[in-house]
Amino acid sequence: MSNQKIFIAKTSELSLNSAKGISLDGVNDQLFLVMTETEVVLWVNDCPHNHRALEYQKDKFLSADGKHIVCYAHSAHFDKVSGECFAGPCKGKKLRKIQHDEINGEIYVESKYLTNLKD
Ligand code: FES
Repeated sequence: MSNQKIFIAKTSELSLNSAKGISLDGVNDQLFLVMTETEVVLWVNDCPHNHRALEYQKDKFLSADGKHIVCYAHSAHFDKVSGECFAGPCKGKKLRKIQHDEINGEIYVESKYLTNLKD
């Protein structure tokens, strides 16, 4: 299969300290974007504890204060930039970050990075 650039979202859809779920199949959000003070980060929506989706409802991936990524299944807390779990049942493990490109306010990911999203 050839490598393709896939449109993910417009940066204008994001706001500081918020998250946006990204669906590749139109059903579940396999990825999510987080805009931090310094960058936009694209994560695989797969908690390293029990390999479940993190959010408790659409786009709710962050703590109430927006400072951390939270898996609402068992309250694992992750650093928004490194993806490392610093509190909870998977402490020391990391979320998987996906490389992306921002071109003229649009976010793209190469399809080669979207294989084996859960491992
Ligand atoms: S599945 Fe995420 S903390 Fe348990």
